Amino acid sequence: MFLKAGIAAGFIAGAAAIPAATTPASSSTGYPLPYSYNQQPSINSAAVSSAAAYAGIPASEIPGANVPVVPVISSQVTGVTSHGPFSGTPTTTGALSNTPANTTIPMLPPNPTALRYNPNGTLNDQQPIPYTPAGGLGTNGTEPVYRVQSDFDYQSILLGLYQEWIELDLFHYILATFSEEEFTAAGLTPSDRFLIEFMADQESGHATMLSSLLGGPGGATPQCTYNYPFKTVHEAFDFTQKLTRFGESGVWGFQAHLDSRECAQLLDQSIATEARQQLIFRQFAGLFPMPVWFETGIPQSWAWTLLAPYISECPADSKRLVWQNFPALTVLNQPNSARWNATQTGLNETTGFGPAAPSSDVPANETCIGRNITGFDCSASISQNRSIPLSYPGREVFLTWEEPGKAVGPNNSYVTATTAGAPEFVIWVSQLNITYSPLTNVTTRNGVNYGQTIQPDVSTYEGDPAINGTMFIALTDSNVTYTAFNLSRVNPHVAAGPFLYQAG
Ligand SMILES: *[C@@H]1O[C@H](CO)[C@@H](O)[C@H](O)[C@H]1NC(C)=O
Ligand SMILES: *[C@@H]1O[C@H](CO)[C@@H](O)[C@H](O)[C@H]1NC(C)=O
Ligand SMILES: *[C@@H]1O[C@H](CO)[C@@H](O)[C@H](O)[C@H]1NC(C)=O
Ligand SMILES: *[C@@H]1O[C@H](CO)[C@@H](O)[C@H](O)[C@H]1NC(C)=O
Ligand SMILES: *[C@@H]1O[C@H](CO)[C@@H](O)[C@H](O)[C@H]1NC(C)=O
Ligand SMILES: *[C@@H]1O[C@H](CO)[C@@H](O)[C@H](O)[C@H]1NC(C)=O
Ligand SMILES: *[C@@H]1O[C@H](CO)[C@@H](O)[C@H](O)[C@H]1NC(C)=O
Ligand SMILES: *[C@@H]1O[C@H](CO)[C@@H](O)[C@H](O)[C@H]1NC(C)=O
Ligand SMILES: *[C@@H]1O[C@H](CO)[C@@H](O)[C@H](O)[C@H]1NC(C)=O
Ligand SMILES: *[C@@H]1O[C@H](CO)[C@@H](O)[C@H](O)[C@H]1NC(C)=O
Ligand SMILES: *[C@@H]1O[C@H](CO)[C@@H](O)[C@H](O)[C@H]1NC(C)=O
Ligand SMILES: *[C@@H]1O[C@H](CO)[C@@H](O)[C@H](O)[C@H]1NC(C)=O
Repeated sequence: MFLKAGIAAGFIAGAAAIPAATTPASSSTGYPLPYSYNQQPSINSAAVSSAAAYAGIPASEIPGANVPVVPVISSQVTGVTSHGPFSGTPTTTGALSNTPANTTIPMLPPNPTALRYNPNGTLNDQQPIPYTPAGGLGTNGTEPVYRVQSDFDYQSILLGLYQEWIELDLFHYILATFSEEEFTAAGLTPSDRFLIEFMADQESGHATMLSSLLGGPGGATPQCTYNYPFKTVHEAFDFTQKLTRFGESGVWGFQAHLDSRECAQLLDQSIATEARQQLIFRQFAGLFPMPVWFETGIPQSWAWTLLAPYISECPADSKRLVWQNFPALTVLNQPNSARWNATQTGLNETTGFGPAAPSSDVPANETCIGRNITGFDCSASISQNRSIPLSYPGREVFLTWEEPGKAVGPNNSYVTATTAGAPEFVIWVSQLNITYSPLTNVTTRNGVNYGQTIQPDVSTYEGDPAINGTMFIALTDSNVTYTAFNLSRVNPHVAAGPFLYQAG
């Protein structure tokens, strides 16, 4: 399927003429050939005149009106206008790699100094200046440097940029694909549609900011071509609330580990916006906006495994990622958010492909879309309280997963891999918690693996069932305990997944 997507009118004013890049000289540094984009601040005099006319005072009296503004990076640099699968031959394969020093990282005791501070309500150490306690990172007066400081930083932020680019394309694509009537039938007003446009504009800002943290055109990566699994408005929003969930959780997984605290600062300020987008797409899909108390974090390789199947092709000068693509995992009875009675969800009630495949629409007598009965309606709304929950502890979950070695991602140039033994557990990652359930009834038919498990019943704190919302599961060969800050240690034990389970 190859569809034309119109870039919504009005977006990125003035992007037609793109001056040459102002940074860095690739030949002298030996960097790969950069793609170029405009970074030159300018004054939009039409916008300034308009602001002055509205205020009724001269532009010269409005503070800041004559300060040049940095342009947003344009997706049109690469002229991406099509969608659909990749049909060519990869020119390179596998994740970026050099010579790993070891295969595992040792399990160490806590840092001895981590137990030194005495949180007893008094000042333990002398204050540097009045009204300021001792401690903190980046508080000693050094000038902030908004730049990645390690391969860990670069590869994490690069993954984030891949995510921002698909969101920019996806939000525009949704607006361009469906008619006003289709949006109205799903419960969306013209103001709601403008909100989608505005969220796309936010993504152009996020892509600009991350590109800048990566060092500008020399370090950033251009937008790609994408392939989406939905056909209807409800399916589109279900896909989007899943895609933004792993975008947000992918960042929560690494931001506290970044070497550059400056990058972490700006990243937080974009992911706070991303979190609002995820909530809004849940509302547009008629889901309860936030059925959890905490949003979870996942390792970078999980986010990349979830994202890669939806990127079909990237330009030749794209930067490559170091992260792992695990073999695909699928829940055969993924709770169907388009049903007013999700307990009746059968097998394979999803549309399209991949770990974020949306729930398929169902017949009129079984759908909750436009069903105007409190508790049974999933039209777009601030909040829809489901009388029959999407899932429940004790639910039998049927699973299927692939063997490693499959080509995935941009230009089919990455390959799924695992270092785990045979899977024995399902890991459930939600809120602040990681829990396991046994994987049972494992069989293999025609090269496809099948198994099942039972949805656990764990709470984060009393009154907050941990497994709810759009959350993550994967198959593992062990049930070692991990917590939010060291979950990436599970990667060598992941046999397949992750998959986005629609718990609520
Ligand atoms: C590799 O890591 C293991 C522990 O995970 C450690 O015992 C071993 O010494 C390491 N090898 C090297 C060469 O660092
Ligand atoms: C609190 O802890 C600090 C550092 O160990 C110690 O100097 C101080 O006496 C303690 N104060 C109280 C009230 O316990
Ligand atoms: C200030 O803190 C940074 C780490 O945040 C450190 O690298 C630097 O050496 C410190 N500078 C001084 C003058 O203490
Ligand atoms: C929902 O579906 C389940 C399973 O078919 C059924 O047992 C239950 O009665 C249904 N609930 C309602 C309110 O119809
Ligand atoms: C669901 O999909 C799985 C895997 O593709 C397949 O084995 C199974 O037969 C399908 N079940 C139904 C009811 O379509
Ligand atoms: C909806 O209608 C179909 C076909 O008319 C029927 O098979 C199905 O049982 C109905 N579903 C419910 C929940 O009544
Ligand atoms: C839903 O039903 C209520 C009560 O029957 C009615 O007042 C309201 O207009 C309906 N809303 C829509 C969107 O149809
Ligand atoms: C909303 O759902 C909760 C739990 O599912 C239920 O206890 C509550 O009664 C519902 N409220 C309304 C107004 O439907
Ligand atoms: C998820 O939260 C909603 C809203 O509180 C609740 O109605 C539902 O029962 C919860 N689902 C699960 C699986 O706990
Ligand atoms: C799964 O295995 C258990 C015990 O091995 C068995 O009792 C159960 O019937 C099996 N379930 C299915 C759906 O095959
Ligand atoms: C969930 O996480 C919280 C915070 O780390 C922890 O206190 C709690 O014990 C965990 N609960 C379970 C069931 O793992
Ligand atoms: C791990 O699995 C074993 C047996 O399968 C079980 O005895 C143990 O309690 C599990 N541990 C955790 C942390 O789930």
